Amino acid sequence: MTTSTRRFARHSIGAVLAVLLTVPASAAPAESPTKSDPMAFARGAKAWSDNCVRCHNMRDPRDYRDDQWTSVMQHMRLRAGLTGQEARDILKFLQGSN
Ligand code: HEC
Repeated sequence: MTTSTRRFARHSIGAVLAVLLTVPASAAPAESPTKSDPMAFARGAKAWSDNCVRCHNMRDPRDYRDDQWTSVMQHMRLRAGLTGQEARDILKFLQGSN
């Protein structure tokens, strides 16, 4: 490596690090669980309001922790007759809103 390429490499790494350090801090939102599928949260919110008031009042997403929602959804998925996708979307919504 010549001096100039080494300087370039160091500069590039610095730039990448700067991006890595600044982007998550400013852009990492509360809805980070939706990253892999940006629409899951919105679909989940709709499926939640469509399905989860049929038998009882709406439970506030903040009533339960993420792990509690995971087990609640296993039970309510069966009761509500949801598809796997609907249940995953609703879980994403609940865990992103508590
Ligand atoms: C077919 C009726 C029905 C539907 C639809 C339904 N639930 Fe329920 N849910 C119940 C009944 C009955 C109970 C109380 C008995 C129990 O806990 O199993 C309950 C209890 C709960 C509880 C309290 C659990 C606990 O451990 O005390 C939560 C939270 C909940 N439901 C969330 C949901 C969510 C979220 C949805 C939508 C995905 C949903 N429910 C859809 C019937 C339903």
